[in-house]
Amino acid sequence: MKMSRRASIATIATAVAGGLAVDAFSFETDEAAPATKPRLRIGTLEELKKRRAISFAYPDASSPALAVLLGNGDVVAYSLICTHMGCQVAYGHETQSFSCPCHGSVFDAARSGEVERGPAPRSLPEIELQSSHDGELYAVALSSPIFGHTESIDENQALYGTGDKR
Ligand code: FES
Repeated sequence: MKMSRRASIATIATAVAGGLAVDAFSFETDEAAPATKPRLRIGTLEELKKRRAISFAYPDASSPALAVLLGNGDVVAYSLICTHMGCQVAYGHETQSFSCPCHGSVFDAARSGEVERGPAPRSLPEIELQSSHDGELYAVALSSPIFGHTESIDENQALYGTGDKR
């Protein structure tokens, strides 16, 4: 069964927070994923639980992104490219927000990357995550285009078709 981005993340988070066996997850499995849907392995649930964040690049090697474990146990992931003019934002675990060093925009990690303070015109692109039964985490989609990327979301994903597709 394909689940929405938030439902899938919530399911992962519940298991991470509760230390449940990965097999208990009900989200989309490797076997159920469409063969043509590109995705990128970003790490494991165990790593995220220990480090509270995993850096990766998505949808291409020049697009930094971060998966974070929020205080309430939710797991979320975002592009780190500011939607104002493309500077790289930094994450603060204490505030659970992303701050841009260029013009001061702040994005709320617990609320879909919404703009807390401008001048950024829109939310940070959220990255949909999936997990396999063996606890591997994958980035599979973007909620919106990344600043400065002229390709469509589907084209961006296609660019990452060479990633780990296990
Ligand atoms: S580039 Fe981030 S606030 Fe301007």
